[in-house]
Amino acid sequence: MTFENTLAFAKQLDKNDSLAAFRNEYFIPKHGKKDSIYLCGNSLGLQPKVTQSYIEQELKDWRTFGVEGHFHAKNPWLSYHRQFEKPLMNLIGAKKGEVVAMNQLTVNLNLLLISFYQPKGKKKKILMQASEFPSDYYAVEQQIRLHGLKPKDCIIEAKPRKGEEILRTEDIAETIHKHKDELALVLFSAVNYYTGQFFDIKAIAKACCDHKITFGVDLAHAIGNVELKLHEWNVDFATWCSYKYLNSGPGGVSGIFVNNYHAKNFSLKRLAGWWGNDEKTRFKMQKHFEPAEGAQGWQISNAPILSMSAHAAALSLFEKAGMKNLRAKSKNLTSYLYFLLSEIKSADFQLITPKKPNERGCQLSIQMKKDGRRIFDYLTKNGVIADWREPDVIRVAPVPMYNSFEDVFRFAALFEAALSRK
Ligand SMILES: Cc1ncc(COP(=O)(O)O)c(C=O)c1O
Repeated sequence: MTFENTLAFAKQLDKNDSLAAFRNEYFIPKHGKKDSIYLCGNSLGLQPKVTQSYIEQELKDWRTFGVEGHFHAKNPWLSYHRQFEKPLMNLIGAKKGEVVAMNQLTVNLNLLLISFYQPKGKKKKILMQASEFPSDYYAVEQQIRLHGLKPKDCIIEAKPRKGEEILRTEDIAETIHKHKDELALVLFSAVNYYTGQFFDIKAIAKACCDHKITFGVDLAHAIGNVELKLHEWNVDFATWCSYKYLNSGPGGVSGIFVNNYHAKNFSLKRLAGWWGNDEKTRFKMQKHFEPAEGAQGWQISNAPILSMSAHAAALSLFEKAGMKNLRAKSKNLTSYLYFLLSEIKSADFQLITPKKPNERGCQLSIQMKKDGRRIFDYLTKNGVIADWREPDVIRVAPVPMYNSFEDVFRFAALFEAALSRK
């Protein structure tokens, strides 16, 4: 599409947008009397208007039935988590039995590492991005220590080439090949939190498969943002959070994917609790853990219904909009932002997110060469909600569910104004 740098053009794009009505399904924070320009769905997604009624339903059923709500609630709590299977399968390209909603992201990452990081002799290393999110790093370091090993001996960091910001797929594959006899695991965020790069997960999975190396993926910045086919790509395991692009509320419930390939591998080491026990014997109150088949067998505790009800509300909108449609709009929306920012002639910033739409999600990362904090503060004062990531990046994420082309146009105009103010 050929873009134009005018408000009229942005408004025309909104008019032609078949998903535009979804904006009205969300509460947009106000700046004075006007909607703010909310570009922070990569940190915390906005509240759907239906969320309140979903939570109230569970409060009502708790009030009405007490403990009997486990069986008599409109959506019985005993099997509440099961409703997430289909929408989550659609979002990440999983098969039946491969997903379950539970816990929080880093908790799940630790649980999965217990099962899928099994160092043996020389094969003890983990390949991860040098600029991985710190929480993942902490989890990996501790898991290595739990095996009596030293992180410095076991972590291999994938770094961009000198002078580049973005990791090249061929370099990742080459690193896997080079260290094939030492790697016990490759762990990658599908979309990097800092640069916004969307990695070629299919190609990385293939490189891992070729050398029989386990491959795990952090989908924090990918789920609800890009299209994924984890089963088809042969990813071993994954986890995510639901408070970013999935709009399920602060601290919203996470989830895991375990490839069906591992569904009946009960010899995998794992932590245990009654909710992961086979349902047939869960309430027999007997000793000795019998893990359920598939992802369900990694559950530990019973489901947090109130936070899950917000998740159910949010996912109902994804089912209506469809991930394919959202991604198609997202590519246009972010390409429009990329175009508008590229029109600004200034040496004070550069875009470090890949230019090709297939190599990024909706986020663009603007690396500031000068006055970064001042510019970010100016934007905030003028109604932009984005975020600042140390040391020098402003992250902006127009999300297709509720952002408009007009939001993007107004942001770019404010950014240009901020740059020209001395
Ligand atoms: C890539 C990534 N991993 C892990 C986390 C930590 O998530 P949680 O606090 O839900 O465990 C985040 C949070 O933003 C993240 O972006």
